[in-house]
Amino acid sequence: MNIDDIKNISVIGAGNMGHQISLHCAIKGYNVTCTDVSEKMLKKADDFVDTYLAGRVEKGKLTQDQAREARARICFTPDLETAVKDADFVIEAVLEVLDLKLKLFADIDKMAPPHAILATNSSAIVSSKIADATDRPEKVLNVHFFNPALVMKLVEVVQGPHVSDETARIAMALCDRLDKVSVHVKKEVSGFLLNRIFKVIGMEAQWMLEMGVASVEDIDKACVYGAGHPMGP
Ligand SMILES: NC(=O)c1ccc[n+]([C@@H]2O[C@H](COP(=O)([O-])OP(=O)(O)OC[C@H]3O[C@@H](n4cnc5c(N)ncnc54)[C@H](O)[C@@H]3O)[C@@H](O)[C@H]2O)c1
Repeated sequence: MNIDDIKNISVIGAGNMGHQISLHCAIKGYNVTCTDVSEKMLKKADDFVDTYLAGRVEKGKLTQDQAREARARICFTPDLETAVKDADFVIEAVLEVLDLKLKLFADIDKMAPPHAILATNSSAIVSSKIADATDRPEKVLNVHFFNPALVMKLVEVVQGPHVSDETARIAMALCDRLDKVSVHVKKEVSGFLLNRIFKVIGMEAQWMLEMGVASVEDIDKACVYGAGHPMGP
């Protein structure tokens, strides 16, 4: 399989991450089906598509045609099987609960085409904890988008020991096509790459505060204006 075989993306979960990942993929030319157990979340995500696209047209970021085409490429369904039956790439973004993800991956494995790659957007549950719920562990990996997914460029592609090189390569190529910047995390470490770095920065900031080196405000200012961190440490 190669990147040109990826045409249909399924997103599981229409919450904070899922609705924006779905819309981003549709804007970038993919057919997207998003599913959620909550009809309310599906309706909210569907309404957001119209509001967001209209706003992009107003700001001159998308043409009317581009917005209309993106709208036509995205749909929402409460039915998991409908969502994944034609998927080439699945991105799971449901609640951060291992048992929920295990059940979901087992179900998706039965419903999605055998070639489909199954990614989890989880920030903390590594795919090696989920992969064995499927018969395709080599195709199960973490593809970690940042919040808000329509804006943030970084995506961490985490290749656990069970993940094939082909799967990791395609996931990274997909990030390129989505106009994201991907990083290849070669080991399943807690926090992946960026959150580990942030953790150390946070601990150092806390230490400096406790030692009376600088005020909260000045530590924030240093991070915002010196390091380009929009929200401080
Ligand atoms: N919020 C963040 O900043 C952030 C950033 C990166 C990654 N993540 C990861 O993304 C995932 C989702 O986080 P979120 O913030 O979008 O959560 P959220 O609570 O906003 O959304 C989760 C959605 O999953 C739905 N859901 C629950 N069970 C389901 C099922 N069986 N099938 C389909 N949908 C189901 C819920 O109805 C809800 O709409 C988590 O694994 C989290 O670790 C979150």
